[in-house]
Amino acid sequence: MQRFEGKTVIITGSGRGIGKEIALRFAKEKANVVLSSNEALVNDTCKQFKDMGYEASSFEADVVDKSNVRELFDFAEKKYGEVNISVHNAGVITIAKVEDLTEKEWDFNLDVNTKGVFLCCQQAIMKMRKNKKGGSIINMASGQARDGFIYTPHYAASKFGVMGLTQSLAKEVATESININAICPGIIDTDMWAYNDSKWGEILGGYKKGELMNSWVQQNVPMKRVGTGQDVAALVSFLASDDANYITGQTINVDGGLIMS
Ligand SMILES: NC(=O)c1ccc[n+]([C@@H]2O[C@H](COP(=O)([O-])OP(=O)(O)OC[C@H]3O[C@@H](n4cnc5c(N)ncnc54)[C@H](O)[C@@H]3O)[C@@H](O)[C@H]2O)c1
Repeated sequence: MQRFEGKTVIITGSGRGIGKEIALRFAKEKANVVLSSNEALVNDTCKQFKDMGYEASSFEADVVDKSNVRELFDFAEKKYGEVNISVHNAGVITIAKVEDLTEKEWDFNLDVNTKGVFLCCQQAIMKMRKNKKGGSIINMASGQARDGFIYTPHYAASKFGVMGLTQSLAKEVATESININAICPGIIDTDMWAYNDSKWGEILGGYKKGELMNSWVQQNVPMKRVGTGQDVAALVSFLASDDANYITGQTINVDGGLIMS
């Protein structure tokens, strides 16, 4: 499919995991892909894309740093002329019992997951306004934006925040053909889940490596399979397409039925 030919898309946190799969989906659909993360790994991922014959470039940026975020959007505009789609996927998680949860952890999760998404939305909206062609913004929330899990109040708060800022900004730009939506992945097998599995498993006790994720999937996911980055990328691609023109301010689950609200 070539539905994004000539469109430029920025994906934050795309050196690995879900972000990489989202970037790959856009690359296959012929977009100009701008990969970004705060790790040098993103440059290796970009090279892989180029070796596969896709149009891709990379820019290292920390989503918590406003001037860095501005530089990322300026880079994409300079390289490809305009920014049409922006996917704000970069995120972090830590897991701790309430008595052990530090202010530093609280701030880290809220800074990257919520403020980082806002700073990217701010730059994306300004670029889309400038080219007067509208655009699509997709923000990464989580099942924890619907239903907070144990030992992650800071992460749940950060993802509920993503849903709120998505709704507020969607209303502000609704007449400018800029759609802003959020998505809530459930249990997706990535490096982040490898950490979740070991840390939640350690605090809850009684789980061997890999067991916690599998048991949660079997007990709580009606489809009884873990999610993949491709499952998430398919929803992002739809929301960025013209088929989603009349959808804005929504938060949509992609989780095999884990949460049905
Ligand atoms: N894996 C899951 O089950 C799951 C479920 C729900 C939501 N999510 C969300 O999906 C997104 C991607 O998760 P993942 O599983 O691929 O995680 P991951 O840890 O594999 O990848 C996260 C990416 O974000 C980047 N990143 C982190 N902090 C950053 C910063 N300050 N600036 C720029 N980039 C930064 C990392 O470099 C990495 O590329 C996150 O927002 C996460 O909260 C994941």
